[in-house]
Amino acid sequence: MTLQDLDLMDPGAFADGIPHAHFRRLRAAGGAVRGRDTDGESLLHLVRHRDVAAVSRDAKTFASGPTTMTSIRKVDPSPPIITFLDSPEHTRVRKLTFKAFAPARLAALEAPIRRIVDALLDEAREKGAFDLAEDIALRLPFAVLLELLDIPHEDRGTLLGWARGTVNLGDEEYDGDGTAGQDVFLKIHEYLLDFARHRASHPADDCFSLLLGARLKGADRLGLPDRLTPEEVGLFASTLITAGSETTYCSVTGAVLALLEFPDQLARLRADRGLMPSAAGEVLRWVTPVTHFARRATTDTVVAGQPVAEGERVVLWYSSANRDEEVFADPDRFDVARTPNPHLSFGGGGPHVCIGNGLAVMELRQFLEAAVDLLPRLEITAPPERPETNFMNSVKHLHMRFR
Ligand code: HEM
Repeated sequence: MTLQDLDLMDPGAFADGIPHAHFRRLRAAGGAVRGRDTDGESLLHLVRHRDVAAVSRDAKTFASGPTTMTSIRKVDPSPPIITFLDSPEHTRVRKLTFKAFAPARLAALEAPIRRIVDALLDEAREKGAFDLAEDIALRLPFAVLLELLDIPHEDRGTLLGWARGTVNLGDEEYDGDGTAGQDVFLKIHEYLLDFARHRASHPADDCFSLLLGARLKGADRLGLPDRLTPEEVGLFASTLITAGSETTYCSVTGAVLALLEFPDQLARLRADRGLMPSAAGEVLRWVTPVTHFARRATTDTVVAGQPVAEGERVVLWYSSANRDEEVFADPDRFDVARTPNPHLSFGGGGPHVCIGNGLAVMELRQFLEAAVDLLPRLEITAPPERPETNFMNSVKHLHMRFR
């Protein structure tokens, strides 16, 4: 088998999980391989930690616009969300929205997150048999996002009812003919846009008002508006719903699968709760919820010894970078005490690094803290089912029961 034989843009190549053996061969063979997206566009796949990090940090040479998605999630035309903006527009939106993730706001979410985790686990215990993916992993991040965004309590039930439409896009069971997810996204977006417009004329002590009231110093020098419009706030909130739910959903199912696969690591974590932070980091490295994003070269350049022409796209394979033997000792070992752990699950650094990473780690840690003592009493009753995707390391059903 040659290095080109496995088409990384084919979801079928991920049907049995991330093709780690293939990535290992690609790293050993120099770390870059040329391929094509399903629309014929030329791609250079980058699989080493150092190249993924270098490209992520050089936003001048490697742009995010008009999209960082490959065919599996590409939308034409791509919406002007923060992920697809370049500087100075990106810097403006990032600075104006970062306030939503200020340390004090995150600290205030600790108790509500714990309440949500406990309620979901209690419900599962009462049921006895449950689907970890649908009953817990899907609902936890969505409920936390509604809390982060201070969505009025009376509307939360409706929004939670749409949660299923935000994950596993492209998979027939979830996304139907490929438009069901998009329809749900439009409903969520419409709601958040209306709410942003309402808050613009009726400010309150909440997240939307904070975002609408933020001002950017020096914006006039850049020739950019110094505040976000209600439309921009609505779009940012919608982006958080898509960026913050499916990712965390994957990390929760992945955490349970890893801890049950490696009972010695589960026992170690139960015996030493001080390992929770490193365990959360290791789950993120091990699972790598987002397998890849792409960038577009703004000029002719060279990466991993390969020429890249202006306009050509490079694909950053976080799933492979996180198993790079140049950076991680014994990378295929799940080690809850791994330190240091410079995983790239939130991106390779640089201006687009995940804005919600503090919240994501907090959610995962709280889930682990509540779940580790239940796990020895749980068993998996059917093989985990994966959706059809090469973009997320997802499990769409994980049936379990209490012994
Ligand atoms: C385990 C959970 C998560 C993972 C693995 C994850 C992963 C990522 C990755 C790989 C990126 C792209 C980085 C880059 O292009 O350099 C990203 C960006 C982003 N994430 Fe996350 N994320 C997670 C949770 C969250 C949460 C909870 C939120 C919000 C509540 C969030 C909001 C965002 C946003 C808005 C961006 C775009 C940032 C920008 O372009 O400036 N993510 N995330």
